[in-house]
Amino acid sequence: MNTRVFEITEIDDRAKEELKEAAKVLRNGGLVAFPTETVYGLGADALNPDAVQAIYLAKGRPSDNPIIVHIADLSTLEMLVPAISTDVKILAERFWPGPLTMVLQKVPQVPDVTTGGLPTVAVRMPDNSIALELIRQCGCPIAAPSANISGRPSPTRGDHVVQDLMGKADIIIKSFDCRVGIESTVLDLTGPVPTVLRPGILTPEQLGQALGKEVVIDPGVLAQSKVDPGPDSRINNDSCINRNSNSNSNSNNNNDDGAPPKSPGMKYTHYAPKAEMVILRGARADVEREMEKIRAEREQAGGKVGVVLFGEKAFERAAHDFFAMLRDLDDQGVDLILAGALNDEDSIGLAVMNRMLKAAGYKVIDI
Ligand code: TXA
Ligand code: MG
Repeated sequence: MNTRVFEITEIDDRAKEELKEAAKVLRNGGLVAFPTETVYGLGADALNPDAVQAIYLAKGRPSDNPIIVHIADLSTLEMLVPAISTDVKILAERFWPGPLTMVLQKVPQVPDVTTGGLPTVAVRMPDNSIALELIRQCGCPIAAPSANISGRPSPTRGDHVVQDLMGKADIIIKSFDCRVGIESTVLDLTGPVPTVLRPGILTPEQLGQALGKEVVIDPGVLAQSKVDPGPDSRINNDSCINRNSNSNSNSNNNNDDGAPPKSPGMKYTHYAPKAEMVILRGARADVEREMEKIRAEREQAGGKVGVVLFGEKAFERAAHDFFAMLRDLDDQGVDLILAGALNDEDSIGLAVMNRMLKAAGYKVIDI
């Protein structure tokens, strides 16, 4: 496929023409990658099953992993769901456009392929003027997962999308780096208690405050975001760090009890850099010392080591930089990435840890 790349940083006359062209491609069942405030998305007409099917093929995405539907106005939400509850109204008013995805009952017109066969649909209004203009021009809701090859770190820069999807999308719209850097908070509003299925920059505390009631994090997600390693889950530094030596039993699968995962995306390998990755957790000075030790050992043996270490309270910066750092380190050809754990008592720290643990295949050294 011949992919056209449009560079748009402001919506001037040329950009308007390009967005019109991209909207036409979407209406005709094509694929367009576009920026959002969280990460770049790979879009198709959400109501066209063949177009959505093409997303799964382009990304190599398992077809039971449902896709978020992006809208630009509330009237489109009315087309997707049977009823809009007071809670949904409150959250939409307060947080849209923004990095919040709401999981709601769907109407039959939303194709099964979009929702991975689920009776619910995930909807969000992105806070990015290019994305909003594209959706408006298109006149249809846009189904869009993150614009990466399945399993790779989510793309936060236009170049990441070009790396992954050149030849696989009809159009790639390159713009500024994404402001947030991790994907939206996914909130399930179909049960009695609003439940976070994927932590993000919008925290359960913020959501609960807006709703005036408790918002919980799904226990499966918590298990995937906080690691409490037992003695057998330590890595022996003297031996070569081994991908299989320290898999937390929750890794890639919250499904051990046989119950279907609430958010199917939770069960897949995610965000994996090409390099081996290990998380070091402990007091800052100890982590730094251990990193240096492992680095020296590895480099002496001819390896190339990269480090991901954020300021202790720099949670938003960590969210912004994390995926891009993984890709940068891959580009530099490192074969081992040592990452410093963030404090998961902080809600944004937890959201980044959720991605970091998946990227590292749940390998943690407690120091
Ligand atoms: O920030 C974002 O959400 C980005 C941008 C492009 O909007 N999109 C994104 O999409 O991260 P994706 O496909 O990479 O992740 C969607 C997540 C998956 O974990 C999926 O399982 C979950 O949302 N999801 C989608 N529909 C769902 C549903 N009906 N019920 C439960 N979880 C759902
Ligand atoms: Mg994704």
